[in-house]
Amino acid sequence: MTDRDVDVLSRAPLFEALDEQGAKALRANVTEVRLARGQTLFNEGETGDRLYVVLEGKIKLTRTAPDGRENLLSVLGPSEMFGELSLFDPRPRTASAIAVTECRLAGLGHDDLRPWLTGHPEVAVQLLRALAQRLRKTNDVMADLVFTDVPGRVAKALLDLAERFGQPGEAGLHVHHDLTQEELAQLVGASRETVNKALADFAQRNWLRIEARAVVILDIDRLRKRSK
Ligand code: CMP
Repeated sequence: MTDRDVDVLSRAPLFEALDEQGAKALRANVTEVRLARGQTLFNEGETGDRLYVVLEGKIKLTRTAPDGRENLLSVLGPSEMFGELSLFDPRPRTASAIAVTECRLAGLGHDDLRPWLTGHPEVAVQLLRALAQRLRKTNDVMADLVFTDVPGRVAKALLDLAERFGQPGEAGLHVHHDLTQEELAQLVGASRETVNKALADFAQRNWLRIEARAVVILDIDRLRKRSK
């Protein structure tokens, strides 16, 4: 594991509460997983016995409706964790995990983790905190689906991606989200046409510039206002 991997892991909820010695002991249980772009790590409904932290790349979590439509729950990047629900509640995976880009992940077996939850309450507290944050976010997304129009939801999704993947550049905030237009629409919960129309409108107003699998946010204040 490189120094950079150790640094990325230390910012994951699981490791945040541990001192250097504890983190080193927990890292000894980590196995590295590599995925090619588009490769599936696991499918919704499968039995799961591992939790993952993204070391490099982006992972999408999706659910499929019986008619085949997809809902993108989240896109995760470095230091973000997934696959913990089946640790706390041993039931099938609640979503599929698919690599959006080439990925490297740190995998930790649920069996290896359980003693850490009981022996180190601070680790359990950090995991609960991460779960609470996710519930808050899910509630926000649900409220937006009911109360906010599609352009507002597009603005919000872009701001969320910007917060995690944005890189300040000369022109503005470069957000290389790596999502296709279809995936962006699945994240917002609207048709590709409606999402494209909203993006084109934002671009025409000079709030952003659209690039391949990326946007450059030129006027973040206006975008923030539109997301409310
Ligand atoms: P698990 O059910 O083991 O496998 C799928 C994982 O997706 C799940 O654990 C969570 O870590 C993650 N997940 C499920 N729902 C959401 C959500 N709404 N937002 C972000 N991540 C989620």
